[in-house]
Amino acid sequence: MTDNKRIYQAYYTDSNPIVHYMVAMLDVQADSTILEPSAGNGAFIAALIGSGRSIEAYELDSDAIAQLHKTFGTQIQVIHGNTLLDSRLTERIVQQGGYDRIIANPPYGAWLDYEQRKILKRAYPDFYVKETYALFLYRCVQLLNDSGKLVFIVPDTWLNLHRHTALRKYLLEKTTLLEIALFPSAFFPRVNFGYANLCILTVQKGVYSAGHEFNVYTGFRDVSQLADKDTVTCYRIQQHAMQSNLDHALFISDKPKVMRLINDAPLRVGDIAACVTGFYSGNDKHFLKTRLDKKRYAKIDPDTICQSTDRALLADGLEGNRCYVPIAKGGAQHYIKPDDWFMLWSKEAVEHYRHDKKARYQNAGYYFRQGLGVPMVSSSKITAALLNYRLFDQSIVGIFPHNAADMGYLLAFFNSPTCNTLIRTINPSANNSAKYICKLPFLRPAETQSQTIQAVIKTIIQQIASTGQFDFTLKTEVDNVIGKIYGF
Ligand SMILES: C[S@@+](CC[C@H](N)C(=O)[O-])C[C@H]1O[C@@H](n2cnc3c(N)ncnc32)[C@H](O)[C@@H]1O
Repeated sequence: MTDNKRIYQAYYTDSNPIVHYMVAMLDVQADSTILEPSAGNGAFIAALIGSGRSIEAYELDSDAIAQLHKTFGTQIQVIHGNTLLDSRLTERIVQQGGYDRIIANPPYGAWLDYEQRKILKRAYPDFYVKETYALFLYRCVQLLNDSGKLVFIVPDTWLNLHRHTALRKYLLEKTTLLEIALFPSAFFPRVNFGYANLCILTVQKGVYSAGHEFNVYTGFRDVSQLADKDTVTCYRIQQHAMQSNLDHALFISDKPKVMRLINDAPLRVGDIAACVTGFYSGNDKHFLKTRLDKKRYAKIDPDTICQSTDRALLADGLEGNRCYVPIAKGGAQHYIKPDDWFMLWSKEAVEHYRHDKKARYQNAGYYFRQGLGVPMVSSSKITAALLNYRLFDQSIVGIFPHNAADMGYLLAFFNSPTCNTLIRTINPSANNSAKYICKLPFLRPAETQSQTIQAVIKTIIQQIASTGQFDFTLKTEVDNVIGKIYGF
């Protein structure tokens, strides 16, 4: 990555279908004043030149500024400035003399030094400043005239993630959402961030009218379908419904039952269990060993492993040679995870973890207890395995039911397609952090269902313990019962 790319997030919109779609959605009128707040080399401006009354382009990078002057001369006004902090723009917001049209592919996670981050945090106290695109979106909606339109291409994380709740609330209150197109980031030339997809958002400034609905397009197989949206899936969403959703998130599902459960469940996983993130040594290469063949990690000597589950003994670390304890790490595995990893747990090591800046000695009250471990990231399906009184690391969310009798049912639930549908609707990215797990609706099984699940789960666990494998038809059996309980 060149320095300019890293600092300015200079990923230019080098895609005709994306530029055409966005410019069409912008709907420029002869007297429109247009702002491009992060202009780069002018991919949008080239498609807009000659339309509207005026075009202003803001840009931070002096190389890009020179290029804009060279390409567009006096046809546009080029401003070398920081869109997020520029006082002329702030003045426009105060004077309510903004723009009629704003189009952008803003920097997504522009590199910020400590000072800049502090300034932005002060200027945008409710926002997650590391994702600069959210600040651009907020700032530019502020800069829109009444009834003005804005078209942005940004990651889709703002639609669901907790950290963007304030942004969603603001957009839903101050604008009318006109259209959202969701597609893989790989459609964007030279960009493919695994963590999220892209979203083209079109809004109009002003409070929405009662009953207002907008289209959400998904299921694109090719970027050219942006010109032919009849060939992709379309969801019609009521803006009021999105505003009333849990945390104002956008949930899209074919199943009304899923939406109802997510929004209205009287009980959630967070009500019946503690959901917490695990431990990090601060330097796994040094403190962690494995019984597997791994280049980066030393092999464990079996004579140094302590298998005790006595929490009093383990609390402050171990004395003697047997000072490594099993630790559960991320990675998809149903029901049971073998002891493959071991953490140094000597008295000195524990003392170190408690005080080291890089270490995360967090939620220690849950170490070495029975519970479930759900990997924080699951690119395909969500899974859970019993922690079996082990330490668990920070790539896992530990789930500890308040009532131990719920353990088997939760183990079945977290390995089921039902749970997967719910969590991916709550948060479509691969992220299962504790916040989203807590929001999962929890429905109690009937007594007979509970007995069936407990019995089958017991058999599965016995099978894994004796052969390392389980009969998949048993999983299908419990999955079906869970499906019946949740009703979809
Ligand atoms: C993702 S690029 C997009 C460029 C262009 N709009 C396009 O679509 O090809 C983002 C641009 O924003 C500029 N930029 C980053 N931070 C900025 C800021 N705070 N103010 C103005 N421009 C900024 C970068 O230099 C970069 O050219």
